[in-house]
Amino acid sequence: MRVVYLSPCGQMGGAEICLVDMLLSVRAAQPGWQLCLVVGEDGPLAGHARAAGVHVIVAPFPRRLARLGDSGNGPLQAVWSSMKAAAATLRYAWNLRRTMAELQPAVIHTNGFKMHVLGVWVRPKNIPVIWHVHDYVSTRPLMKTLLRLHAHRCAGVIANSNSVARDVRQVCGSQPDTVCIYNAVDLQRYSPLDNTLPSSETDLDSLAGLDRPDENTVRIGLVATLAHWKGHAVFLRALARLPQDVPYRAYVIGGAIYQTENSQRTVEDLRAMAVALGVSGRTAFTGYLPDTSGAMRALDIVVHASTQPEPFGRVIAEGMACGRAVICSAAGGAAELITEGEDALAHSPGDEEGLAARIAELIRDPELRGRLGRAGRTTAERRFDPSRLSSELIPMYLRVSRP
Ligand code: GLC
Repeated sequence: MRVVYLSPCGQMGGAEICLVDMLLSVRAAQPGWQLCLVVGEDGPLAGHARAAGVHVIVAPFPRRLARLGDSGNGPLQAVWSSMKAAAATLRYAWNLRRTMAELQPAVIHTNGFKMHVLGVWVRPKNIPVIWHVHDYVSTRPLMKTLLRLHAHRCAGVIANSNSVARDVRQVCGSQPDTVCIYNAVDLQRYSPLDNTLPSSETDLDSLAGLDRPDENTVRIGLVATLAHWKGHAVFLRALARLPQDVPYRAYVIGGAIYQTENSQRTVEDLRAMAVALGVSGRTAFTGYLPDTSGAMRALDIVVHASTQPEPFGRVIAEGMACGRAVICSAAGGAAELITEGEDALAHSPGDEEGLAARIAELIRDPELRGRLGRAGRTTAERRFDPSRLSSELIPMYLRVSRP
């Protein structure tokens, strides 16, 4: 059995971390299977996949295709960019079709919008393609139309939450069958204390070029890529609303890792915003961190502040697995992950006042932080154990490849 995975992106965002978890899980459960990854960009994903024993082919996207996207663009801009990218995309598809013919997969598993469409174009005859959908489709002007048009050529859809599954069904209908498979989290790495590492906490202050604050300082962090909708502005505005006397330091952890045009903010923008809001003295910027587990352990409060419904929200699951008090922007798939007041606190997307109130409550109440953190860890162990992935994926591969 040979499974070929197609990923547009070579950096380690949430969808790519999820892909590596799946590769590891399938590899462990089926050591005899051949796993192959074709990735549209060289980068850390290729290295992680190779380390997992996966055969990797880097087939770089032409620049215009790499930059093409409708997450930060309006419909007209998206159509115009796709027209400009058309010739390069067709050439790319032609070459990818040849690669697929040589690989002769039993199943193709695609892990990003561009590969969902390319996958059904280039699959060898009768070879099933599974779309693994990590983001809402109905809000994407271009992708919504493209996926609807190609859905009849897809054998099955995996959605990362029930909320995304409903969205896919609304756009693509009941055929192909859509199932929800939640992300998993490496529960050893994302754990309250990691004894395998010399220091289990990342020194966030040195990374940001700051001195260590005093012992009573509560550390609050937003861990996210710099996509516009990840709520950095809401986070900074919530900090500006905190009473002056509460002892905290805030950390913005993450970088702009995706190439898609207009989809990301820059750290410079965010620094300027922190200055304008009067919180720059208490806010540190670490940039992108390849492993966020140590950073989460260094925090007391992990903030998730997406301004749109979050499809899944790995950061929430990872923060809970690290036993930290998590504040979640509870909409979409993210709302499925927590039980408000028991294993995390919640606020509504974009509600900076609500977020400030939750942060202030947690800063003042270390016992509440401890209780939420312990309950969060229990939830993570119950719901996000990686061993679940292969037992959900493998039956699906077998079902679509032997109809
Ligand atoms: C995408 C989603 C995010 C999710 C990740 C993994 O990045 O936006 O919510 O956690 O995929 O499924």
